[in-house]
Amino acid sequence: MELLKIDGIPDYKEIIELINAEWPIEFGNIDDSEKIVEMTKSHNVETDTVKYLIDNNEIIGFYRYSLWPRDNIESNSAHTFDIAIKPDRQKQGLGSLIMKDMIEDCRINGVKKLLSRSFKSNNQSINLHKSLGFSLHLETDDSYVWEILI
Ligand SMILES: CC(C)(COP(=O)(O)OP(=O)(O)OC[C@H]1O[C@@H](n2cnc3c(N)ncnc32)[C@H](O)[C@@H]1OP(=O)(O)O)[C@@H](O)C(=O)NCCC(=O)NCCS
Repeated sequence: MELLKIDGIPDYKEIIELINAEWPIEFGNIDDSEKIVEMTKSHNVETDTVKYLIDNNEIIGFYRYSLWPRDNIESNSAHTFDIAIKPDRQKQGLGSLIMKDMIEDCRINGVKKLLSRSFKSNNQSINLHKSLGFSLHLETDDSYVWEILI
C-alpha cells in the first residue's frame, strides 16, 4: 500500500467512486459528470495537495488539502477539502492512516494549523477528527469546523 502525491490537476474521473462516497447530500444530488467538472474547476494547483492511497494498483482512498485562505499562497494555515476511503475498505484504519499522512504532509510544508469541516450529519467524519485530536474551531447550523495545531 502506498500514498502517491499527484502532480498537476488530478484526473477526477478516475476517482469518481471516491467522490461519490464523500459527496454530501447537502451539496445536492448531481450526476457524475457534473461532479467531475466541479472538482476539476475547484482545483488550484498553486494551493492544493492531493494524494491517492493505492493498494494492488487500485486507488482505494484519496485526500486533498489546500493552503487557507486560498488567495494567500504564503499562508501557514490549511484546510482539508476532501478525504475518502472506498466504502468496502472503510473501518480498517485507512481513514486514520491518510488523515495522519495529511497532517504530516502539512507539517513538512510548513503548515502550522489545519482546519477541517464535518457536516453534523456525518458521524464517521466527526469521529475521525475527534480521534485524531482535532478540537472544535467553530460551529455553524449544519457543520463543525475542526482545527489541529501542527
Ligand atoms: C470518514 C472516512 C474517511 C473514515 O475512513 P475509515 O477508513 O472508515 O476510517 P477508520 O477505519 O480509520 O476509522 C473508522 C472507524 O473504524 C474503526 N476501525 C479502525 N480499524 C478497525 C478495524 N481493523 N476493525 C474494526 N474497526 C476498525 C475505528 O475505530 C473507527 O471507529 P469509530 O468511527 O467508532 O471511531 C470514511 O468513512 C469515508 O470515506 N467516508 C465518506 C467520505 C467522507 O464522509 N469524508 C469526510 C468528509 S469531511
